[in-house]
Amino acid sequence: MPIYSISHVENVRVCVVMVGLPARGKSLIAQKIVRYLSWLSIKSKCFNVGNYRRLIATDSPITAEFFDPQNQDGLEVRQEAVDRAIQDMMKWFSDENGVVGILDATNSTRERRQAILRLCRENLIEPIFLESWCNDYELILQNIADVKTTSPDYQNKDLDFATQDFLQRIKYYEQYYETMDVSTDPDLTFIKLVNVNSQIILNRIESYLESRIVYYVMNLHIKPRSIWLSRHGESEYNLTGQIGGDANLSERGWRYAKKLPDLVLKSLGEENKHTNLTVWTSTLKRTQQTASFLPYNRKLQWKALDELDAGECDGMTYEEIEQKFPDDFKARDDNKYEYRYRGGESYRDIVIRLEPIIMELERQENILIITHQAVLRCLYAYFMNVPQEESPWMSIPLHTLIKLEPRAYLTLVSRIKADIPAVSTYKEKGTSQLGEQKDGNYLKSRDLINDSEMHKLENQAK
Ligand code: ATP
Ligand code: F6P
Repeated sequence: MPIYSISHVENVRVCVVMVGLPARGKSLIAQKIVRYLSWLSIKSKCFNVGNYRRLIATDSPITAEFFDPQNQDGLEVRQEAVDRAIQDMMKWFSDENGVVGILDATNSTRERRQAILRLCRENLIEPIFLESWCNDYELILQNIADVKTTSPDYQNKDLDFATQDFLQRIKYYEQYYETMDVSTDPDLTFIKLVNVNSQIILNRIESYLESRIVYYVMNLHIKPRSIWLSRHGESEYNLTGQIGGDANLSERGWRYAKKLPDLVLKSLGEENKHTNLTVWTSTLKRTQQTASFLPYNRKLQWKALDELDAGECDGMTYEEIEQKFPDDFKARDDNKYEYRYRGGESYRDIVIRLEPIIMELERQENILIITHQAVLRCLYAYFMNVPQEESPWMSIPLHTLIKLEPRAYLTLVSRIKADIPAVSTYKEKGTSQLGEQKDGNYLKSRDLINDSEMHKLENQAK
């Protein structure tokens, strides 16, 4: 039976029109929305007008003067760039059944926004304007240093030059920028973020999909933080190859639990060793036992973090499932993301129940989550943008702590192994035998990388 998402039910198409002066976090917000909606199986894509502009104006390096409102050539290139982006977005809506398209540009004037509004209405697309308004000069300088001075616009340019030139670019934009306001735009659907999320103004949010986007954006913050992920220590069921259940830790699993505080401290580093983490576990014994030696007072249990419910197969080994339910066994291998155990759950079901966890994770700062193989794959897929047909096949070994550090356009990953042996619970496609994946693509150990490498990666990702 096909499973419908909310976009099918409502049959809506939404265009999120970003609005804001340069260096206000528009691209970052746009990319996060695309990642979040894609994770929920809602087809989404970002159309970044800056990239179109760079494709059109290739002959000379761009300086602030290009953005001077008196510069006629600059104005023409910029108009062409936005026209092309909109054209591609409309084509994507119609030819590829896109559901949420994001037009990532400054969209600075009311006139430009009215033109986009008309076009959306003609094409039966709901426009929602998303303005990031910010007058915190320190933050803007920080944003320029973090992402703008290393942008392709300033390749091989001196840092000071890039900073000053970008500030001048902002000044040109300020000459004609028109902010959004309930009094001037009473009929528009919009969300306005003021100084990140110190104030949020909402106007005429109507459909369910719009409200999901709004709620997500309202929860975002930009404070630096890390998220630690770990599976529970090896359990007695893991030793016998049984899935599901509510078993205790094995002797090696307890050793991992005892070592976990030390692994966390190591990953925090000397200067942050007093950081207070909040620990989230599932309601199952093995995750709580794994958390029991952690010296943090705030430990919360979430039912939503419980392992994939294997229904009638709970407590069986994969070999037993293959013998007793061969068709199910094959169906699961053929489409592991969609396959729902008899009387149990699919990976898609887990993603749906994890949505509140993701919302809360976006709001929170440093969190350590101790959960289970399937749930961890889904969480990891959200942060690392792993496509859903691949995520259920990711290798996430036992006795390994994963640290995620969200940065402007990517998430850094480091993996800390406990050096305590554990069985493998990984089953490759086409077999019922357990054994580690030959090519563990997603979780290859990666050292924390230095800042300049990080900028390079961030810009590639952009
Ligand atoms: P441009 O118009 O030049 O493309 P932009 O508005 O798209 O700029 P980004 O490239 O997304 O800006 O800037 C990313 C930086 O903005 C990051 O350092 C991020 O921490 C910061 N940021 C994210 N959200 C916000 C916000 N709501 N307000 C201000 N800064 C933000
Ligand atoms: O064996 C560990 C386990 O957490 C099971 O309880 C669960 O059913 C399974 O992993 C999920 O992994 P997969 O989806 O690869 O079968």
